[in-house]
Amino acid sequence: MSAFSEKYGRWALVTGAAMGLGAEFARQLAREGLNLALLDIQEELLTLTSQALSHEFHVEVRPVVLDLAMPNFLPGLIASTCDLEIGFLVNNAGISAIGHFLDVPLEKHLSILAVNARAPLILAHHFGRLMRERKRGGIIFVSSMSALTGTSYVSEYSATKAHDLALGEALWQELRSSNVDVLTTIVGATDTPGWRAENPSIGVKTWPPVMSPEDTVRETLAALGKTPSFVPGSQNRLATFLTTRLLSRKSAVTTVGKEMDMRYGT
Ligand SMILES: NC(=O)c1ccc[n+]([C@@H]2O[C@H](COP(=O)([O-])OP(=O)(O)OC[C@H]3O[C@@H](n4cnc5c(N)ncnc54)[C@H](OP(=O)(O)O)[C@@H]3O)[C@@H](O)[C@H]2O)c1
Repeated sequence: MSAFSEKYGRWALVTGAAMGLGAEFARQLAREGLNLALLDIQEELLTLTSQALSHEFHVEVRPVVLDLAMPNFLPGLIASTCDLEIGFLVNNAGISAIGHFLDVPLEKHLSILAVNARAPLILAHHFGRLMRERKRGGIIFVSSMSALTGTSYVSEYSATKAHDLALGEALWQELRSSNVDVLTTIVGATDTPGWRAENPSIGVKTWPPVMSPEDTVRETLAALGKTPSFVPGSQNRLATFLTTRLLSRKSAVTTVGKEMDMRYGT
């Protein structure tokens, strides 16, 4: 048993685990010896990821195919995992839409709200209670640098990520006396399938630079238990300092807005 699994328990639940950051969280947790319940909407890819991880790290992996946008997803998840002691939760699944707020269909905004904010809230409430009872556990919320400044073209996405940041930080404070570590990771651009789909100009140099999923996840896991929230990547931390400490709120929103205009404006 690794120190990690001794501290948090034998099973981790990772959402959005078929690919991208979720798959990388799963990989690094498996390397620590944790068994995995991996949740995703993409059945085939989830099966492949699950098989690969169980083969490489000799841990038990249970794929759970579920759509977190569905209003009543929790009973299905409980049915699939009630025999497992989930000691670690990574609230990773997230979706976005690029466009002016009024031009994106309302249904899409509501799905973003459901997957990025409602689902992490429900999962933290359900599994957090069980962790508090056991007096051990860990929860990670995957937020985004767009949570720090209202971000045009991804307005609802940035709002949901601000929700996750505030919720995660509050839970860090509330649950620490129950020996449950909560961390919100404020992720910058990271090279995942989701990021690539929204950034066709791959290869163009940007600042802060795009990170690898390996580094983003490794730095996040290293910060667990030490702080309520954390920005992986030194350049991302510098950008965060500029937008949240040096610039006025108005300048920060405008500066980020101009950058988004250059990227996505017509
Ligand atoms: N990559 C970045 O630059 C970046 C930056 C800041 C924050 N983040 C955050 O990091 C997290 C992971 O991002 P990523 O880039 O790794 O994403 P990704 O490459 O798109 O992978 C996300 C996975 O979650 C699945 N998923 C989406 N909606 C779901 C639902 N309703 N129920 C279950 N699974 C669902 C996706 O399936 P589909 O492909 O079918 O949607 C996909 O398999 C997200 O919360 C994102 O907001 C990422």
